[in-house]
Amino acid sequence: MLVVQSSNGFLGKDINYKGAQMFHDLIKHRRSIRKYLPKPVEQEKIDLLITAALHAPSSRSIKPCEFVVVTDPLVLADLACAKPHGAIFIKDAAVGIVICADPHKCDVWIEDATIASIFVHLAATSLGLGSCWIQIRKRDHDQNLTAHEHIAKRLNLPSNLVVEAMIAVGYPDETKGAHPEESLQFEKVFFNMYGQRQ
Ligand SMILES: Cc1cc2nc3c(=O)[nH]c(=O)nc-3n(C[C@H](O)[C@H](O)[C@H](O)COP(=O)(O)O)c2cc1C
Repeated sequence: MLVVQSSNGFLGKDINYKGAQMFHDLIKHRRSIRKYLPKPVEQEKIDLLITAALHAPSSRSIKPCEFVVVTDPLVLADLACAKPHGAIFIKDAAVGIVICADPHKCDVWIEDATIASIFVHLAATSLGLGSCWIQIRKRDHDQNLTAHEHIAKRLNLPSNLVVEAMIAVGYPDETKGAHPEESLQFEKVFFNMYGQRQ
């Protein structure tokens, strides 16, 4: 039996230290927030989002990722048109963090960029901000341009960089509860051998 979190806030009788509690609260309460208040995010918080991205682990510590932090509403509005679905809400975000990487620097740049993205997403939650991942790699803007090409043109990205994702961030204008523990797919977890239960 795996004890993840009980209602009294303890992780289990042997795991009740503060750091673990805070981490589990954070990952439980992280949700994709797509509605934002028309309120700027303080520079101090933006700096912490950037720091989180830069703290992400990187294969062989090559660090192929680069980031464009967008707060200009006109640029955010253009980023919102990067693809026909699933990006429009970034126009109302206070901040958009565009996560790019140089595929020539590292064969596992996708993993590196993905981890940096999730660090930003979780850091936003920890700061009381709402955020949402916007997938760019492998997405099209229209029949002629990829979503990456649309963004690269607008942000004047150098040709060596590829956009993996954007994280839209702002003060939340919607609330979403944690996914219930019952929805966690423990049936997809095996021990020592595929198919083997604990
Ligand atoms: C790799 C990845 C790509 C995603 N792309 C988008 C996207 O382009 N637009 C969007 O609105 N949400 C996107 N999401 C958010 C998912 O839709 C969301 O995580 C999922 O519906 C579960 O909801 P939750 O994050 O609130 O738990 C993406 C999430 C991941 C992990």
